[in-house]
Amino acid sequence: MATVSEEKNVVSSATAGFPTVRMRRLRTHPKLREMVGETHLSANDLIFPLFVRYGENRRVPIDSMPGHSQVTIDLLADEIAEVDSLGIPAVILFGIPEHKDGIGSDSYDDHGVVQQAVRAIKQSGSDVLIITDVCFCEYTDHGHCGIVNDRHGELDVDNDATLQILVKQAVSHVQAGADVVAPSGMMDGMIAAVRSGLDETGFENVPILSYAAKYSSAFYGPFREAAESAPQFGDRRTYQMDPANAAQALREIELDLAEGADMLMVKPALSYLDVVRRVKDAHPGVPLAAFNVSGEFSMVKAAAGNGWIDEQRTVLEVLISIKRAGADMILTYFAKDAARWLA
Ligand code: PBG
Ligand code: ZN
Repeated sequence: MATVSEEKNVVSSATAGFPTVRMRRLRTHPKLREMVGETHLSANDLIFPLFVRYGENRRVPIDSMPGHSQVTIDLLADEIAEVDSLGIPAVILFGIPEHKDGIGSDSYDDHGVVQQAVRAIKQSGSDVLIITDVCFCEYTDHGHCGIVNDRHGELDVDNDATLQILVKQAVSHVQAGADVVAPSGMMDGMIAAVRSGLDETGFENVPILSYAAKYSSAFYGPFREAAESAPQFGDRRTYQMDPANAAQALREIELDLAEGADMLMVKPALSYLDVVRRVKDAHPGVPLAAFNVSGEFSMVKAAAGNGWIDEQRTVLEVLISIKRAGADMILTYFAKDAARWLA
């Protein structure tokens, strides 16, 4: 039998004067396993996504994302206080406006939903880092990430027209008090445009987290329900990346760095861990985030809810894997649960 002959080999090599290599020695004691762990995960690595809406004293549950709701502005101070008490350093805000239109004008209105949300959080005295998602899909009636124009008989997002209002949106978020802006629309030149817009308005110290390599992904499904941002026609393939491409992600990254991005993001996380690794290896000095997106959250929730997998173990395995691949920060809907489990 195999076990017997393996045992013989071990014994004979030991008696022949060779040390026996046993990887399992490092796995014997729980404390030792912890000490030799190569990757570490803590609440400090996590960014909590929050959906903010108008109204009073309401949490509107998101069916496809159990435990998550659209939260009204007046409840944000409490919500953020909880995030803070769990040791999570940052949130990213997504706004759901009352009225949508063709150009997403609520997104750059001084009294828009995100602007009011940011002010409310800042007025509460919280020092949790506030990142705002800078895009149009939640604010446009057609659900695309910019201004849609007819191009030779086909409707498509107009890159350069979108940049102009994208800058207005970013500046207005920062004027309201946002600490970091995160342009997510995958428009060419968006980082250069936002950087110069911020510099010209005196916000040269506000960092940009670029959704640099954002794929056209089926894993955004639950988010689109949460943010009411599904495209009303077509899809996002003319601006978001093709899942087939990884080398191209490096080009996206180079461009965004050249344009002035301070931090980078790969999104989604799990099907793109190879991209996370390549980006980290190419730019070890640039802080890298990965977005553990809504579909990745909902899959775990559904399986755990059915008793098919252990939620806590699965979530912690997912998160440590994203870090192991090279991410410094993880945007995740599991942030609060994970922070509790890691405490
Ligand atoms: C908006 C945006 C999306 C997500 C973050 N910002 C959706 C999209 O591109 O359709 C997805 C987040 C998630 O699925 O958790 N551009
Ligand atoms: Zn968008």
